Amino acid sequence: MKKFKRTTVTAALPYANGPLHIGHIAGAYLPADTYVRFLRQRGEDVVFICGSDEHGVAITLGAKKEGVSPRQFVDKYHHLMKQAFEDFGIGFDIYSRTSNPTHHETAKEFFTNIYNKGIFLEETSDQYYDEQEQIFLADRYIIGTCPNCKHTNAYGDQCEKCGTSLSPKQLINPRSTVSGKTPVLRPTKHWYFPLDKYEAWLKEWIVEGHKQDWKINVYGQCKSWIDQGLQPRSITRDLDWGVSVPLPDAAGKVLYVWFDAPIGYISATKELKPAGWEKYWKDPETRLIHFIGKDNIVFHCIIFPAILKAAGDYILPDNVPANEFLNLEGDKISTSRNHAVWLHEYLADFPGRRDELRYVLTSISPETKDADFTWKDYQQKVNSELVSIFGNFVNRVMVLTWKYFDGKVPAEHELPATDERRKKILDHYHKAHADLNVSVKEMIRALQDFRFREAQFQLMNMARIGNKFLADTEPWKVAKEDMEAVGCILNYALTIVGNLAIACDPFLPDASRNIKRQLNSSSFDASWKQFWIKEELINAIPQHHQLGQAELLYKNIENEEIEKQIEKLRRTKMENEKSAPLVKALKPEITIDDFSKLDIRIGKVLSAERMEKSNKLLKLKVDTGIDQRTVLSGIAQHYTPEEMVGKQVTLIANLAPRKMMGIESQGMILMAEDLDGKLRLVFPSEIVTPGSTVS
Ligand code: MF3
Ligand code: ZN
Repeated sequence: MKKFKRTTVTAALPYANGPLHIGHIAGAYLPADTYVRFLRQRGEDVVFICGSDEHGVAITLGAKKEGVSPRQFVDKYHHLMKQAFEDFGIGFDIYSRTSNPTHHETAKEFFTNIYNKGIFLEETSDQYYDEQEQIFLADRYIIGTCPNCKHTNAYGDQCEKCGTSLSPKQLINPRSTVSGKTPVLRPTKHWYFPLDKYEAWLKEWIVEGHKQDWKINVYGQCKSWIDQGLQPRSITRDLDWGVSVPLPDAAGKVLYVWFDAPIGYISATKELKPAGWEKYWKDPETRLIHFIGKDNIVFHCIIFPAILKAAGDYILPDNVPANEFLNLEGDKISTSRNHAVWLHEYLADFPGRRDELRYVLTSISPETKDADFTWKDYQQKVNSELVSIFGNFVNRVMVLTWKYFDGKVPAEHELPATDERRKKILDHYHKAHADLNVSVKEMIRALQDFRFREAQFQLMNMARIGNKFLADTEPWKVAKEDMEAVGCILNYALTIVGNLAIACDPFLPDASRNIKRQLNSSSFDASWKQFWIKEELINAIPQHHQLGQAELLYKNIENEEIEKQIEKLRRTKMENEKSAPLVKALKPEITIDDFSKLDIRIGKVLSAERMEKSNKLLKLKVDTGIDQRTVLSGIAQHYTPEEMVGKQVTLIANLAPRKMMGIESQGMILMAEDLDGKLRLVFPSEIVTPGSTVS
């Protein structure tokens, strides 16, 4: 690995629009914290940067929904998140926020600097405007029918059904998700960053330069973006909340949130080190690492680097170890449906059990694919791994040392192999030592490569080897005949405990502190850094040292505790269902004679057209097998005329004709109305001849 002088570690600035949940933690903050702890253990120069992302439409709309100002809104969530991070023990050097003046200045300087180089494009174009809400709509806030697959709820930037990238103007029947109204086009001026001009450079830097060292999911996403061809991206918005565009003719315009937010990493570093920040961002001997979730990849790997490149002088990310998503009990985590484990609630419900959550989240870390958190699995991992393997080993060694040596570390001396039993003990010791050193090396390698799951597995392996060493050497039996041998066994077992205290710091910081306290190690634990440098077991505890009192590291998670949590999730699910639109009540009973009066038959739509002055009705020509007739149907918001042609429909054919908007409708087409009001055609499961009756 190339040698660096220092490392700048960032974790995605979370939007200040809701509390943190375990998906956020598993995605970015826990791996980042684990990595930073590892670097600090090695004595490296590192800054760990984070803060709240407080701009953008998600914030202004969230504030509106809560009936408060954007300022009040972000204040609330900024403090909530900051506190939760602190309570959970994420060790940021600074947790800042993008509404800070330093950030506004820094973001404006960035803009001005690139603007003055003549890099931005300026363009006036028509964009969708919501007249009721009086806002220009971001692409994500416009939905409509996908021109490609006809999915009716495609977003203005992408159809989730067929994956096509879209622009809002391509949508058929666009509607605003804010008001539900049809938006209108209005001209507006914006500044664009010519990403296309950076395509060749990005290709060289990522596709050729980082094929080996970036995770395949990250590399793959970048490559597919670059292969599709890059386009200029607008970097300003019409909004009254955000960093205002520092130009004279730009009233009411702010920087696009994804332009200013990553610059927030730099502003926060400035706040942290007003005099010394530059070396963390401009010195080529600094390594920059962004921890993010997979939805942030293009912004951190393509757009922000291109902006840094345009600004000049800045270093580029050395690695972006983005994670996939975490699900909860087999379902997507959802803030709006409240299907989540909120960090602040976990901390309140499980006081003193931060390590337990860290442990489980790392052991299922969505590093290469989406993962699922379940409370049963949480309980199982805590009880059978943390309690039974890790905690149990440390406790047995402590208790045995108190029992046989009054808590004094037995002398460390060569054990002459004078009998068979001693020979066996020595064999077990050599084997354990060799195995432990393999695990230590693997653990450190995995930490360097951002494979935290594997790294933590190796940590647990160290405890497993320790347990096996005790089981193999059986000091409680040896104690009856050979106390010198018992001393040797426990001296080595304590060495393992000491090394575990060191090794577990990045993963289980509370356990690390606790074991150090039990070992009463403050007089010598400074020397423990050697573990990380030598990458092998060190002689952790001096002989004759007096240990502290033994304490249990972890206790079992009881069934009631997790049942309460499962129940909580079940209850929100039920409440969600209750508050969902209600299924209509049953109509009064009818007789079979009533029913048989209806002539229901299958027809085929021959042609379809919109009706002038009606945005609800389509005028259809239907082949009913006995005639071709005109039927008006109120489906214009759900189907396009083109979609209707050729479709089989179910028709009430003997309904008295009715005139609507000057045209006679001869029948009615049956539709299923979804609970949210969406209409879908009802037709036979296979094509039948027009005129077929339904009974
Ligand atoms: N707020 C964004 C999100 O939660 C992440 C922003 S990361 C930054 O998805 F780089 F822009 F700060
Ligand atoms: Zn589509």
